[in-house]
Amino acid sequence: MDKFVIRGGNPLLGTIRVSGAKNAALPAMAAAILTDEPIILENIPQVRDIETTRKLLAAMGAEVELGYGRAQHRTTICCRSLTSPEASYELVKQMRASSLVLGPLVARCGRARVSLPGGCAIGARPIDLHVKGLERLGATITQEHGYIEASADRLRGAEIVFDKITVTGTEDLLMAATLADGETMLQNCAREPEVADLADLLNKMGARIEGAGTSTIRIKGVSRLRGAKHRIIPDRIEAGTFVIAGALTGGDLNVVGCDPSHLTVVLQKLAEVGVRTASAGDSVRVIGDGALKSADIDTEEYPGFPTDMQAQYMALVTQADGASMVTENIFENRFMHAQELVRMGANIKIEGHRAIVKGKTPLSAAAVLASDLRASASLVLAALVADGETIIDRVYHIDRGYEHIEEKLRGVGAQIRRIGEIFPKKAVPTAVRA
Ligand code: UD1
Repeated sequence: MDKFVIRGGNPLLGTIRVSGAKNAALPAMAAAILTDEPIILENIPQVRDIETTRKLLAAMGAEVELGYGRAQHRTTICCRSLTSPEASYELVKQMRASSLVLGPLVARCGRARVSLPGGCAIGARPIDLHVKGLERLGATITQEHGYIEASADRLRGAEIVFDKITVTGTEDLLMAATLADGETMLQNCAREPEVADLADLLNKMGARIEGAGTSTIRIKGVSRLRGAKHRIIPDRIEAGTFVIAGALTGGDLNVVGCDPSHLTVVLQKLAEVGVRTASAGDSVRVIGDGALKSADIDTEEYPGFPTDMQAQYMALVTQADGASMVTENIFENRFMHAQELVRMGANIKIEGHRAIVKGKTPLSAAAVLASDLRASASLVLAALVADGETIIDRVYHIDRGYEHIEEKLRGVGAQIRRIGEIFPKKAVPTAVRA
């Protein structure tokens, strides 16, 4: 298992490039299931979840080509024949977003067998709303041996109101409805830019979708979809993480290749904390020259403050004067990073789904453990300003969603390196030694 070794104290200076959004790339890859023609996706990030999705699709019989060299961010997927419409437990347990294949498989193949995801470090994360929605579209669903089995001759359009806003749930049903017979109206949908990006791709494939990016989406079902080429939107969470890195380290960082309009609420909150940023075109420049002051956040569905930026924000306000209240409203157990930040010197008290961070406290390097994707990002941020050399274990979590983060950060002056696990020397049996 790889670790990061980070020596804090360097201001980040220069230009850092944002990759394509993992959370837009995953549903886009699943959308390829809906057609027997090739789907070409550009700006695909090189992260582990993409490789897991490649394996998932390949195991079904899809041809998936991940580009090399100059084409390294392109993937071509052709689901000409899907011999095995299944998502195994082995793959689903590595990546919960595997449930995104459920809707497309039933719509295209008339059947699907997808493992239930089980528990997760940040909360229960059930997929009951995906299942309920598919039933409304006419699928018959059974559950056995930890798997969901869904079948339908052809899905039928329906009106579906989500009980709770769900991002992948919206995407799953959106994909399923494209091939349904008749019109579907989805209400109380997630409004994330990744949902709108998926709808853009689906419309290029011949789908008839209106309203994606708002809470009501209308889909007129078509009988078949065709191949298409699509460029994935930039990763707003990676961009936000880099902006915080620039601010925390007192740097001057140009975060390029992002879409500042997807970061409006995050940048507004950072301004309240005293972080100076300037957006122009596809870049955000952050100048970390002022003192930071406390500010509260409440995580919410888009366009609110993203839960995926909560851990990084917490690292930031450990360096702000005063008390900041961080309220997590989306997941029930998303404060695992807090205890690790405390071990580095932060003053954080957790009360239910609220954390109170009192700053400013100096951070000192420690050996810490990454517990999930965004928690690992917050530990990297804290380490960049900590006194001494921090060792972050289990960085495979960060590799799920951040493309070569250590290389990107090193490029702007951070002292960070990756080390592989050093195994203890094999013990020699006493008898042999004698
Ligand atoms: C997506 C993102 C993830 C982000 C999250 C919230 C992807 C691949 N992942 O995850 O990075 O943190 O949105 O912005 O896009 N829920 C149910 N039943 C369901 C589905 C969800 O109760 O069937 C609950 C969840 O437990 C959670 C809330 O709804 O409390 C929101 O979850 P959801 O939006 O579905 O998250 P994901 O789509 O899994």
